Amino acid sequence: MATAATPTTTFPPTRTPLNRNRPFSQLSRLRCSAGAKSLILTASTASNPTDSSPVFRSLTAFAPATVANLGPGFDFLGCAVGGGLGDTVTVSVDPAVVPGTLSIAEICGSSCASKLGRDPLWNCAGIAGIAAMRMLGVRSVGLSLSLHKGLPLGSGLGSSAASAAAAALAVSELFGGCLTPDELVLAGLESEKKVSGYHADNVGPSILGGFVLIRSYEPFEIIQLEFPHDRDLFFVLVSPDFEAPTKKMREALPANIPLKDHIWNSSQAAALVAAVVQGNVRVLGSAMAADAIVEPRRAPLIPGMVGVKKAAMEAGAFGCTISGSGPTAVAVIDEEEKGNQIASRMVEAFTKEGNLQSIATVAKLDRVGARVIRTEAA
Ligand code: HSE
Repeated sequence: MATAATPTTTFPPTRTPLNRNRPFSQLSRLRCSAGAKSLILTASTASNPTDSSPVFRSLTAFAPATVANLGPGFDFLGCAVGGGLGDTVTVSVDPAVVPGTLSIAEICGSSCASKLGRDPLWNCAGIAGIAAMRMLGVRSVGLSLSLHKGLPLGSGLGSSAASAAAAALAVSELFGGCLTPDELVLAGLESEKKVSGYHADNVGPSILGGFVLIRSYEPFEIIQLEFPHDRDLFFVLVSPDFEAPTKKMREALPANIPLKDHIWNSSQAAALVAAVVQGNVRVLGSAMAADAIVEPRRAPLIPGMVGVKKAAMEAGAFGCTISGSGPTAVAVIDEEEKGNQIASRMVEAFTKEGNLQSIATVAKLDRVGARVIRTEAA
């Protein structure tokens, strides 16, 4: 795909957390030359006339888990969640790796790590890392990459996107942080396109943090929605021991939808966006729980999901739906203690209604997104 990013918008515009046309790293802007980035995503790393030099010998980045869709925001809305859930990528300059290329040295972490291949052209972190190298025009050094999976695969928590986000940021920061947030999202999207589908509702928030609205791909435009800092918002994430492959969960969706469903879901999505920027967790929850198009088709494919949602609402959740394409169920509330009580009821319901064991986490909104957690001097 050849695409160019247009300036993006942050709402409310007066509280912009990042200048999205500037490099991501606040500390390293001066290292970035004007020509040191390209948005032309071609197969060759030679798309950029300027070679980039590494600033560090090795660098580690973490990227958080995400909740995509949030009910009626199917494929265009997502947010990052805290609680330490996420993936970690280390990239190192490696003289044993052919200059301009990337090799995957190690994949470890959660039980799913052994299922992932080390071919960088087919691994989420590898694809995003290579895309970032291409954008930067890296030709003078080769990189080796290690991926630590904190998230299980196919959990509905943006596992592939977190790997891609951490890799894109790690590569960019290794070379001085020259890629803008939009470019990092596009690098991550290269990976999502290959392994999960062309939607940025996981990789966008995993990189940027907070709530992210994907307005369009051609031209690429994303809008950050700022949830007020003085309001509390907790996500109750309950992941059952069940696989719900995104491909299968997408196949369950209708090709056409009745006009009345379109109107209903558009209203709910608009209410959801308004609730986010107003910090109204009650409305956020009720809009999130009101999807009439996607959730009704997917919920029956996840054993116990219908009963889990009912249990969450009866326990006082403001809303509950499927996280991403599932199988994780996500509920929202404004108090942590209440979140823990709701989590217990949801775990019980997965056991009783779906005969599935599940793991619960109560997490805050992650407002930071992908970040550097360790560096080693060149
Ligand atoms: N929006 C996507 C879906 C997220 O629901 O299919 C999963 O990656």
